[in-house]
Amino acid sequence: MKALHLTGPLDLKFVEIPVPSPGKGEVLVKMDFSPVNPSDLAFLTGGYGIQKPYPVVPGIEGSGKIVASGGGVYTGFLKNKRVACVASHKYDGTWAEYMVTEATKCIILKSGVSSDQGSMLFVNPLTALEFVKMARQEGFNHIVMTAAASSLSKMVIYFAQKNGIGFTGIVRKKEQISGVLAAGANYVFDSSSADYEEQLKKHFKGFSKILYPDAIGGGDIPYKILACLPEHSKMLIYGRLEQSFANMIPQDLIFHEYKIEGFWLNKVAGKKSLFEAVSDTNKVQKMLNSGFETTIQNTFGLEDFSKALKLYMENMSVGKVLFQM
Ligand SMILES: NC(=O)c1ccc[n+]([C@@H]2O[C@H](COP(=O)([O-])OP(=O)(O)OC[C@H]3O[C@@H](n4cnc5c(N)ncnc54)[C@H](OP(=O)(O)O)[C@@H]3O)[C@@H](O)[C@H]2O)c1
Repeated sequence: MKALHLTGPLDLKFVEIPVPSPGKGEVLVKMDFSPVNPSDLAFLTGGYGIQKPYPVVPGIEGSGKIVASGGGVYTGFLKNKRVACVASHKYDGTWAEYMVTEATKCIILKSGVSSDQGSMLFVNPLTALEFVKMARQEGFNHIVMTAAASSLSKMVIYFAQKNGIGFTGIVRKKEQISGVLAAGANYVFDSSSADYEEQLKKHFKGFSKILYPDAIGGGDIPYKILACLPEHSKMLIYGRLEQSFANMIPQDLIFHEYKIEGFWLNKVAGKKSLFEAVSDTNKVQKMLNSGFETTIQNTFGLEDFSKALKLYMENMSVGKVLFQM
């Protein structure tokens, strides 16, 4: 089968390798689509939270059809079904014509959900759901997010609106503002403007504590934004789009009693019961069925991986780049 092989950090090759066989409780997925997400880019560098021995097929999520099972009740039930799937932590990933994964990592796609949209069912939508759930459970009635022109941020806006939670987005380019407002954000600010801190301080006067998921992580911008928020606000670091050291002024944290936490969907999802997992993915499929779509800027065959990765890295806010097998 055709596949991409990572043979060392950032060393990606187009290869022909044998089709893998599923063991008990596992299925063979004939892959249709798989997106390039920032987590895949991190995996390519060798700096992701999940490490696998080289050579390895990268790719975390995708969609396809179950063509064989290694035995077991649920595996048989999945046979010939169109599914969204996540790569096993033990085996190769989704950037190949076929992938073996655990049957429990596959969700049957509803008829109204296309296979390209369905290939992005897990990573971003489930993270967006978690942020909004956290806001509700911990009494935050407003969310502020950096990298607000991202696909994930637009999903947070969708779920926040459904739950009566307000949303302020922060982008880094002026031309990104209109798209985030069109997605339903209540307010959008541009961190490249010279006086954005004053603008934010003024904007947040009168607000109570805010949930602040941040995708940038490094540098000083995320912490300058934190210092503009009301006291008892909570920063949730879930991305490191900026890889330099985080530069924070400690007194902001102390005197405003801010909280800072890390968030990784992989850990959160691992603690869920099967019932919760199915209920969450049903909510996501309902969102996709109701007309919400992640913008896809282009699709490529695996052999064009260099073009695909270049296009995505240079134009992240334009939309997702997908591999079509
Ligand atoms: N922790 C978790 O469990 C988890 C789960 C899902 C997603 N994530 C994270 O969520 C973030 C968004 O993912 P996505 O798939 O929605 O991304 P996406 O749609 O590809 O968009 C990425 C966005 O980030 C912006 N960006 C890139 N580098 C930046 C920087 N240094 N400073 C500020 N903005 C920057 C881009 O803006 P430009 O166009 O200006 O470059 C773009 O708007 C990523 O960091 C991803 O790793 C984490």
